[in-house]
Formats: sequence, C-alpha cells, structure tokens
Amino acid sequence: MVKVLFVCLGNICRSPTAHGVFDALLRREGLADKVVVDSAGTAAWHVGKAPDNRSQLAAKNRGVDLSYIAARQVELSDFDTFDYILAMDKSNFENLIELSEPVSRNKIKLFLDYAKNFSATEVPDPYYGGAKGFDTVLDLVEDACEGLLEDIKLNHDV
Ligand code: 4NP
Repeated sequence: MVKVLFVCLGNICRSPTAHGVFDALLRREGLADKVVVDSAGTAAWHVGKAPDNRSQLAAKNRGVDLSYIAARQVELSDFDTFDYILAMDKSNFENLIELSEPVSRNKIKLFLDYAKNFSATEVPDPYYGGAKGFDTVLDLVEDACEGLLEDIKLNHDV
C-alpha cells in the first residue's frame, strides 16, 4: 500500500479537495485498493467539519464528491504512517518540517512539485476570496494529482 496525505491549513478547502480528486482518480484507474488517501490541517480550528460548501460545490461541478471527508489535524504519527506528505503551500510545508523528525523529512513535499501544466509552486488559500479561487484550486489540484499518480506508478509496485 502506498499512503498519501494532503495537508493545508484548515483541512476544509485545499487538502480535502486534493483528497477527493485523488480518490476519484484512483477509482477511475482501478487503484483504490492500492493507494490510501487522507488529508489533514496544520491548524485545529475546523476539526470534525465537512469541507467548506464552496469547495464542495466547485468539486461537484467537476463530478467529484467531497462530502464524506471530515477535517482533522496533523498528528505526529502521520510522519511514520504516510509515504507522501504533500503541503499545499510553503507555510504548510515549513510547519510540517518543524513538526517532523529529520528521518521523515524526505516524505514532505510541495504538492505542486507534481504539477505538469502549471508552474505555480503553491495552491493559493481560497478561504477569504470569491468563487473563482475555488475553481483555481481545482485546476491546480487536478493537474498535480495526475503528476502524483505518474510518480507513484513509476516508483511503487501498484
Ligand atoms: P484551507 O483554507 O487551509 O485550504 O482549508 C482555510 C480554511 C480556513 C481558514 C484558513 C484557510 N481559517 O482561517 O479558518
């Protein structure tokens, strides 16, 4: 099993979007039983909540359901459990590096390192903006999920 954890700040906008989009991609590819997907936030503000309605709507418009996801905070055990720990922005990345032991740090990456068609390095936080920001999140996330799956196929026996 390959285990992937998507991380943002609140775990109600960006990382649950990546979680749902990657789950849907794995199901389409028949790989849902080979790759475990989860998401978490560096902050605890929204623990237990479903994704933001605006994220759910933007994902639904592209055929992706996010309603089954509940927010949780990053736990220290995540650094042992997961093979890929993917930060949505540099601030999330720095927080993860600080929380982790040196031995786990090679698992922590910027998610957009896997983007194929975008040169952006960060998924912008859409929380305080308008609906367009949530669509931008989907554009970036869909693209990086494709690249991530290619990396997993290349480096793991799936
Ligand atoms: P996320 O977005 O990190 O993509 O889930 C945010 C959600 C909530 C807040 C900030 C960012 N907040 O300040 O409550």
